[in-house]
Amino acid sequence: MSSLRVAVLASGRGSNLQAIIDNINEGKLNVSLEVVVSDKKDAQALTRAAEQGVDNFWVNPKEYINKEAFETALINIIKQYKVDYLVLAGFMRIFSPHFIRNVGVPVLNIHPSLLPSFPGLHAQRQAIDYGVRYSGCTVHFIDEGVDSGPIILQAVVPVYSWDTEDTLAQRILQEEHLLYPRALQLLSEGKAICEGRKVKIIGEGENDE
Ligand code: GRF
Repeated sequence: MSSLRVAVLASGRGSNLQAIIDNINEGKLNVSLEVVVSDKKDAQALTRAAEQGVDNFWVNPKEYINKEAFETALINIIKQYKVDYLVLAGFMRIFSPHFIRNVGVPVLNIHPSLLPSFPGLHAQRQAIDYGVRYSGCTVHFIDEGVDSGPIILQAVVPVYSWDTEDTLAQRILQEEHLLYPRALQLLSEGKAICEGRKVKIIGEGENDE
């Protein structure tokens, strides 16, 4: 089976990118990482890509007259690589509808809460402040809203009374590193099928058979 071609957008540390790279290298993930693009010059994600010999680019938002021009620059790079999916891995910008309509491929994101609870920034702090007993992470498709697209997979973690934003973020992150590669593998096997608002998962003991 041919690999799923993906591009990754990341702004920072890139630990989710690394989890994807590690799973590819271990032969557990049938994905071909074509390019990594960042809006931050010193993003560790770019270094991680370079270490793997993966093409990587910094696109400086300040060089563009407006958001649409910056997004067009991103789209132009992504299109060159003829990918099947765009994977957001800690990309700290909200796209305009222009981007979603023109990028030409489905876009995936991972968010550190059980959506639809706690969308947007500081999801872990929101969960602690609300007093929930469980939080987690969600891999979902992007639509024109904020963290509102169809959900592919979720993982649950407990929230303890002594948790800080940081301890909860760490616990969730461990699950993120398992969940994103799993979601991508399901997509590469054609086992995650988006039907309107819902994503049907075939087999694998998920909620649907
Ligand atoms: C993760 O917590 C992810 O859920 C959120 O941004 C963070 C990225 O971390 N979207 P990393 O850059 O992958 O380490």
